[in-house]
Amino acid sequence: MQYFKIGPSRCTDEPRVAAPPTPAQAQFQIDEWLNTGRLFFPKDAIQAIHDQVSGPIARRDEILVKSLDDATMAFEVRTGSTKESGQQRETIGKPSIRYIPYESLRSGRELSSRRPHLVYCPMIIQHAATTCNLMTGDPLQNIPLRPIHDMHHVFNTALHLWEESDTWIQIKATLLSTQATTTVRKIVAFACGTMSHTDDIPGASYNSIFQHAFLVTMQRLLQQKTSGQIACSVQDPAYTDGDRAVLHTHGIRVLDDPEGFLDVNDESLVFSCSPNVPVKQIVVDVARPAVVIWDRVGNENSSGTDPDSPRVRYMMNRFYDALEFPHEEHFGDMVIYVRRELDDIGNGVSTEAINETQIPNA
Ligand SMILES: C[S@@+](CC[C@H](N)C(=O)[O-])C[C@H]1O[C@@H](n2cnc3c(N)ncnc32)[C@H](O)[C@@H]1O
Repeated sequence: MQYFKIGPSRCTDEPRVAAPPTPAQAQFQIDEWLNTGRLFFPKDAIQAIHDQVSGPIARRDEILVKSLDDATMAFEVRTGSTKESGQQRETIGKPSIRYIPYESLRSGRELSSRRPHLVYCPMIIQHAATTCNLMTGDPLQNIPLRPIHDMHHVFNTALHLWEESDTWIQIKATLLSTQATTTVRKIVAFACGTMSHTDDIPGASYNSIFQHAFLVTMQRLLQQKTSGQIACSVQDPAYTDGDRAVLHTHGIRVLDDPEGFLDVNDESLVFSCSPNVPVKQIVVDVARPAVVIWDRVGNENSSGTDPDSPRVRYMMNRFYDALEFPHEEHFGDMVIYVRRELDDIGNGVSTEAINETQIPNA
């Protein structure tokens, strides 16, 4: 089974290393940046990391990442290193980005860790790691996967059920009552999960199957309304070969992290359900999509892996109308947010100061 590890890193700027802020100073500074419109996940910063991570890199190279105060952090590449203990061998795989939401950043957690220099770093480098049995080479804790031909069958059955369902019929009617179906040019979805787990893990893959079925029907609806091609891309590091095969058959493109975030623009429909990554905070920093369908944004500070930062609440309140997403067991408490003045494309990301206001309710 894959997990993630953070390796050695250093700040290349001497003054910062010499004088890290106190937790109170760090919290004040992070709030100040947020309130004055500083982006925590700007597209060019994500692109700069992606260019390095996807380029030719070798063990002991360094990946350079700018932090919010413009200092440069250097993360050592550890790909290929191994560690043996008892009957196990751990192997370090490819580097990827760990996104730190605003709430975790302002908690000053890094100041009390071994990495105080990362206090202002919303994106840090982690490595995938796997463990195998030293003698046999077999991966440990391998989860049984559904065979690919079964996956095609199960997915097609679910797609048929979904197309006929009251939930989809209501969602379709809601969207057809707005300009959304003629404005959206592409769908980008995050964290829809793997459809490969067998029924031995009850319910594990059915959320994923129905969420992908939703994407297929949404793509068809938009294509009918615009009489054009609507690209549909998905990003989730959990995808298996079986997922990729099923998605390919239905015209859905799988993107590696962070290509989905880089793909989102003002003409996108973004979908995400219970992600393990702060999708909302990243998306509001990279674009102002025409439609977002994601977990309900509340009026209070939230926790979890995809929390509603003050900027997320502000963006939803200032630019979006909230429409009902019917309750459905495979989706959770979702809302359809449709950007107001949908013909007003191209304003891009808002870097304006944040004034707290109430969130629109579906
Ligand atoms: C709690 S599961 C939710 C799965 C599914 N949407 C559901 O409702 O059951 C969180 C998902 O977030 C995915 N995830 C983690 N990091 C991600 C990233 N960087 N980009 C997209 N998805 C990510 C995980 O692989 C996992 O499938």
